[in-house]
Amino acid sequence: MKALVLAGGKGTRLRPLTHTSAKQLVPVANKPVLFYGLEAIRDAGITSVGIVVGDTGREVREAVGDGSAFGIDVTYIEQEAPLGLAHCVLIAREFLADDPFVMYLGDNFLVDGISGLVDAFRGTDCDARILLTRVSEPRFYGVAELGPDGEIVALEEKPEHPRSDLAIVGVYTFSPAIHEAVRAITPSSRGELEITDAITWLIDTGRRVQSHFVTGYWRDTGRLQDMLECNRIVLEAIETDLGGTVDGLSDVTGRVVVAPGAVVEGSVIRGPVVIGADAKISRTYIGPYTSIGERCVLEDTEVDYSIVLGDSAIRGVSGLTHSLIGRNVEVTRATGVPNTHQLMVGDHSRVQVRA
Ligand code: G1P
Repeated sequence: MKALVLAGGKGTRLRPLTHTSAKQLVPVANKPVLFYGLEAIRDAGITSVGIVVGDTGREVREAVGDGSAFGIDVTYIEQEAPLGLAHCVLIAREFLADDPFVMYLGDNFLVDGISGLVDAFRGTDCDARILLTRVSEPRFYGVAELGPDGEIVALEEKPEHPRSDLAIVGVYTFSPAIHEAVRAITPSSRGELEITDAITWLIDTGRRVQSHFVTGYWRDTGRLQDMLECNRIVLEAIETDLGGTVDGLSDVTGRVVVAPGAVVEGSVIRGPVVIGADAKISRTYIGPYTSIGERCVLEDTEVDYSIVLGDSAIRGVSGLTHSLIGRNVEVTRATGVPNTHQLMVGDHSRVQVRA
């Protein structure tokens, strides 16, 4: 069995970070979200992995390389424009050959991995087995309708009036029959070849399409609140590891990782928190569910429930919460009177200040 990982797309909901970076490489607990998926694929016993890349392909290649660091063998497949999930299958035809495969959307995050789905699919002769979960707002997802035996009878992509609360999770297993399906469908109203249409084609032509329910936690990390929530879930499970330097004036409680080369001085850290390599934390409070990237500098600051990417500096700022801060960002205190906010923020940024 092979895997096809989709790591293209525009990531519009995570702008401005995705102007310069792939959404699949935004870190959760200081590790790119895509890496969790690659590890889940390896843990399911799959080593031959195709990764579909788009505009941010160079960055994805740099991060993942040939896959040997993950124990997998990666082939890159270029997609010239984000023309849909079924289009990815179409252009991966040569790589996939006639093998069954699991398709994994690179921004999906599953705490329990994908071995349950992959093993169940290996044990049946169906043409697709689709991962589902109940959600409160199904209209933001592909939505499935089930028959009496758990088989899928209909699918709809982001329907205005969903017929169930069963969302399609971004991990699918297919037999080679899917190749005929992706060739048979036409682009949707948003101009994309939809995988939901291809699966509907399988159903309409009498193929067996089964459902499989997610065990454990799942999130599509396309939005800020989902990123922060995934970060929280991963941090819940970390073990304390003080590889860096914590001085005697600091107070570190709960589960905290201070990576090698990082320095914490005169600060209060209340875990779960991870602090990346070579970061410098001075006279600062870092509260629960916070990930601080490599080489960040935090001084006289208070932050919790946030993700700060590498090489950023925060100085003299209190009350930072529910924030996602990119790379090489500077957040500092404005001095003088009147009490002002001075901003230089990128396109599509969101800033909330208590004025
Ligand atoms: C895609 C699929 C959708 C699925 C979702 C899960 O949507 O088209 O059916 O529910 O992934 O992450 P996207 O997030 O690419 O808009």
